[in-house]
Amino acid sequence: MDAQVIAAQRKIETMIDQLIQGLPRIGELSREERRDIIARYSAVLEGNFIYWMTATLIATQSPDARPIILENLHEEVRDAHPAMLRRFAIAARAYPTDQDALAVNEDLTKVRLFLGRLSAVQSLATMAFFEGFIQRFMGYLAALAAAQGSTEMEYTDVHGVCDIAHTEGLFRALAAEMSVNPLGPDQDLLEGVNLLRALMEQVVFYRAAALA
Ligand SMILES: [Fe+2]
Repeated sequence: MDAQVIAAQRKIETMIDQLIQGLPRIGELSREERRDIIARYSAVLEGNFIYWMTATLIATQSPDARPIILENLHEEVRDAHPAMLRRFAIAARAYPTDQDALAVNEDLTKVRLFLGRLSAVQSLATMAFFEGFIQRFMGYLAALAAAQGSTEMEYTDVHGVCDIAHTEGLFRALAAEMSVNPLGPDQDLLEGVNLLRALMEQVVFYRAAALA
């Protein structure tokens, strides 16, 4: 892998480490706060993960990168990951309401519009961050649900394992795409990663304005 991809991977992994290390301790969260994190996570992931991976596929030109993304999508659709996530949220009594959806609306819209620009290398970096974050977040998400009294853990069990391979695959796809479709000189490789990080921070740390 070339030096630019290795540097990007290190940066993305550091951003994920920081986000994971900054997670609030589950014992210090109220029942309501635990519920809200699961609900906002579901509001973002259930309807958008496949959409965003599809946007990335549409943008990607490299014949070595496209099969990696397709395989990822294949698994998402075949195994009905959105259905798995919905079961997880319902079992934890954390199915999102309009308030949960609105709490993440602004940052979610920014990520949607960004991926709509179909900038392949930036989109692949964004999805590599997403997969890497999800995989590292699974233990925490499962612990939140367990603290709510749920035992439905298929979603977190599946994603703690499969996303390790998916994250590696996305960095390989990023390297392949960069070689045929490099970034323009004024493009920031991490533009979408930064937008997605802000969205995941809203998922974890959002507090209703009324409380401030
Ligand atoms: Fe999935």
